[in-house]
Order: sequence, then C-alpha cells, then structure tokens
Amino acid sequence: MDRTFLMVKPDGVQRGLIGEIVARLENKGLKIVAAKFEKLPEERVMEHYAEHVEKPFFPGLKSYITSGPCFLMVWEGKNVVSITRQMIGATNPAEAVPGTIRGDYALEIGMNVIHGSDSTETAEREISIHFKPEEISGYERID
Ligand code: CMP
Repeated sequence: MDRTFLMVKPDGVQRGLIGEIVARLENKGLKIVAAKFEKLPEERVMEHYAEHVEKPFFPGLKSYITSGPCFLMVWEGKNVVSITRQMIGATNPAEAVPGTIRGDYALEIGMNVIHGSDSTETAEREISIHFKPEEISGYERID
C-alpha cells in the first residue's frame, strides 16, 4: 500500500489546525498509520531539507521549522502521495487554490502550514528519516 509523510508545521500547530487537517485526510478515506508531536532537532532538519540547504531561504526555513513543535504523520492509501499533494495545494499559498489546505489556511511561502512528500521515493526517504519501522502500525479501516 502507498504511504506518504505529512507534517503540520509550527504555524499550523500554533494556530490549532491539527484537528482540521487530520479530519480532511480521514474524511477523504486515507488512513493514518503513525503520528508524533515533536520539535525537530537541527540534524533532522538538515537531513529532511538536504536539497534546500544551499538555498538563500534556508536559514529562514530552518528557524521557522524549529520555532515550535511539529505534528509528524505517516498516511496510507491508494495514490496517497498525489492525492495529499492535491489536497495540500501549491507550495506558495498565493498560488494554492481555495479548497486546498494552503489555499484555505496560508498566505506566505515561508509559513505554509504543512509539508507533504512530493513522490513515492521522497516519501520512503522522509518516512525513514522521521519514523522507526516499529512506530508505524497498520490496521483495518472500516468505511
Ligand atoms: P515544503 O513543502 O516543506 O518544502 C520546502 C519548503 O521550503 C517549502 O515547503 C517552504 O516552506 C520552503 N520554501 C520553498 N521556497 C521558499 C522560498 N522561496 N522562500 C521561503 N521558503 C521557501
């Protein structure tokens, strides 16, 4: 079954959006199989955002993402990566369509509420950065 890594960022946590985001994903029919609440250690931020470390916005991204706890999740479902990318909306909230999470709840690229893996390969990598296999629990979803 396909899996993806999603993370409510510190602005989403501080604004009380965890419940709304989880509800949207559960209502869609996706299944949450792991979750934890934590302030990301610096070395994990560097690993997670390895492709952005040299970018000019990285210092701001690093201080934003470590400014408070994040809510980290693994979700499962058919085509879960592309479906959650659609539900999250464009990286830049100014371009995110209303009805998407960023389209409804974010204004700025530097504070865009949620992260979602952009491919199945990235999802595998990001899940292994943040979760041990024993922290992920499968179960039967009853719809
Ligand atoms: P995310 O989906 O977590 O993946 C990379 C993150 O870098 C992105 O969301 C934004 O939070 C951040 N980001 C990307 N581009 C910019 C930018 N131009 N300015 C500030 N932050 C950015």
